[in-house]
Amino acid sequence: MKTFTTRKSLQEYLQQIKALNQTIGFVPTMGALHRGHLSLIELAQQQNNVTLCSIFVNPSQFNDPNDLEKYPRTIEADTQLLEQVNCDILFSPGVNEMYDGNEQWHLNIGETEHLLEGEFRPGHYQGVTQVVNKFFNIITPDTAYFGQKDYQQFLIISKMVTILHMPVKLVMCPIMREADGLAMSSRNIHLTAADRQHGLVLSKTLNWLGNNFDKKNIPALKKEAAQMINAEPGVELDYFEIADADTLHQANEASAGIVALVAAKVGHTRLIDNIVIS
Ligand code: PAJ
Repeated sequence: MKTFTTRKSLQEYLQQIKALNQTIGFVPTMGALHRGHLSLIELAQQQNNVTLCSIFVNPSQFNDPNDLEKYPRTIEADTQLLEQVNCDILFSPGVNEMYDGNEQWHLNIGETEHLLEGEFRPGHYQGVTQVVNKFFNIITPDTAYFGQKDYQQFLIISKMVTILHMPVKLVMCPIMREADGLAMSSRNIHLTAADRQHGLVLSKTLNWLGNNFDKKNIPALKKEAAQMINAEPGVELDYFEIADADTLHQANEASAGIVALVAAKVGHTRLIDNIVIS
């Protein structure tokens, strides 16, 4: 695997690849890699000549300095994992390589970035679009891979790509879960054994909803789901929403696609999960 930490050296290498008409699949991450990340890399490998993974804990998307500080950083183990799965390129820039001092700009993709996660993590999606925009400019990948785990993030990046006419194709990859249903996340490392058990209520409730879904009953189902989660000790619900898959407004009978999204604090760790229903 080729590893780069500067834009210049990466871009010189990518120029050679592009001159050979090789396609580039890009998987942006913040590291602490798990099977969820690796599933994105695997799909990128199947669909492209060259696969590039970035590892960058992006400060501008953390609204909570404490969360940024305690975000797991495991670059050595990550590099080994990427070698094992035959990833072609790792780009792991430092903050100064990505940001020119105190940048005062951001994109405004509109309403979607202020709902749900946007409401609980003000400015989060502006940080995400800021850094993904930079990565797309540096790399100009053919295709970029994102997880359904961060459904709202995918929606917002799709809108950015559409609005700015960015020449990149986006692919959404399914959520990878532990055997008991817990959605894999870099943050799971912070869960105690007890948190780990309590946290299962999120995926269980989403599954229950998927099995009992009825378009005519959305407000009642939403209430019952929230009650199920609130009844679990050690779990503090931020939101449970049954939403239109495109707008993220509360779904109604006319919604073509529906997604249920949940966020909760489990012990000291904030977890998110979702299920696409139709
Ligand atoms: P990170 O949380 O590291 O996630 C990187 C990618 O892996 C995202 O597209 C995310 O949706 C996907 N992912 C995480 N857990 C997954 C799981 N259990 N199954 C499938 N895919 C999963 O998302 C970010 O980083 C950042 O916001 C980033 C896009 C890199 C911008 O900084």
